[in-house]
Amino acid sequence: MDNVSLVKLAIEARKNAYTPYSEYKVGAALLTKDGEVIKGCNIENASYGATNCAERTAFFKAVSEGKHDFEKIAIVGGKASETDEFSDYAYPCGICRQVMREFCSSSFEIVVAKSINDIKSFTLEEILPNGFGPENLE
Ligand code: THU
Repeated sequence: MDNVSLVKLAIEARKNAYTPYSEYKVGAALLTKDGEVIKGCNIENASYGATNCAERTAFFKAVSEGKHDFEKIAIVGGKASETDEFSDYAYPCGICRQVMREFCSSSFEIVVAKSINDIKSFTLEEILPNGFGPENLE
């Protein structure tokens, strides 16, 4: 699947973001190597630390259904008033990068977008260099 299509699905996923506290909504679309897309949104909580990011929602949904082989993820985020054009790219937080490190290879692609016409992509190695991963415990 191309990046534009995956970003469109991330924008769709973002509509379900539950964000009464930050009003910052994030959507993610995770593509498996089989071509399946798993969507995720951020889900906040009155006990703020219980909040789950959009990327981790997508990963945990996928892994909980036995899916472990991932090709790329598209992420969009911004204030609730922004719907399909965002003032910034939504880069994944450190915890989400670490979750990616658990399940993905260094060439896993992270696609971020301000709109479907303004898309950038990075590898996991670029955004999490020298990461700690499963092989360090072998
Ligand atoms: N958030 C994500 O969903 N993904 C990230 O990578 C960064 C932050 C969410 C968590 C919270 O609901 C809101 O953005 C503000 O931090």
